[in-house]
Amino acid sequence: MNLKNTATRWGAVSQLLHWTILLLLVWIAWLGLGMGDMPNTPAKISTYALHKSLGLTLLALVTLRLAWRVYAGVPAPVAGTPTWQARIASLTHVALYALMFALPFSGWLFNSASGYPLQWFEQFNVPALAGRDAGLADLAAAIHVYGFWLLVALVALHAGAAIFHHVAQRDDTLKRMLPAVPSRATLAQTEPEY
Ligand code: HEM
Ligand code: HEM
Repeated sequence: MNLKNTATRWGAVSQLLHWTILLLLVWIAWLGLGMGDMPNTPAKISTYALHKSLGLTLLALVTLRLAWRVYAGVPAPVAGTPTWQARIASLTHVALYALMFALPFSGWLFNSASGYPLQWFEQFNVPALAGRDAGLADLAAAIHVYGFWLLVALVALHAGAAIFHHVAQRDDTLKRMLPAVPSRATLAQTEPEY
């Protein structure tokens, strides 16, 4: 399997980052949605800390993902895709990247403007993005929360479109973001003859 993207498929690096980031987002969102209502115990503090460290990790992975995309290129739209659909897909991808940056940055900004300390998995201190500022903290919190629900809506649209292509259109849109499994015919051709 190619590491780099080709004209027709996403390569291993883009695939690994795409699916890892999906899992990481689910984990971070699950922690984020539950942590506010936790009783004030040390477990609450460590859940917040985990949410933030995973969020910063996601920020690093998204930066890597975008850099790799620029370096490795983007496959052409699947043959037969109407131009308007390819346009909406690209616009959705741009919006998804914007939100994958906006969420961790707004969380980090909220944390800084609220005057909370920040560490990455207790390994090192992460600098504040701004000084204490209640107005800025409110703005960052609003971006964090509304941005999250916008992300959920866009991911539903995006994943729904991918599944529609797979099930109804029966084209390669989903397959080219998944590791290639050799077909029976290819396997039969490569089987040694005794
Ligand atoms: C992609 C990354 C992230 C996602 C998807 C995410 C998602 C969320 C969600 C869903 C909530 C709950 C909002 C609510 O109460 O309705 C939340 C809260 C919070 N997040 Fe994040 N977050 C991310 C990254 C970060 C980062 C990097 C930080 C800090 C460095 C952070 C700090 C916080 C804080 C402090 C809260 C509590 C806000 C409050 O008390 O109102 N988040 N996040
Ligand atoms: C079950 C959930 C998901 C499914 C089924 C899915 C499916 C796909 C497929 C099939 C492609 C390739 C499209 C093509 O080649 O034209 C793709 C690309 C893409 N997906 Fe998803 N996806 C999911 C979740 C997500 C999430 C959570 C994000 C980000 C928040 C995301 C962001 C992207 C982006 C930005 C691309 C463009 C390629 C890239 O730059 O990595 N996807 N997705």
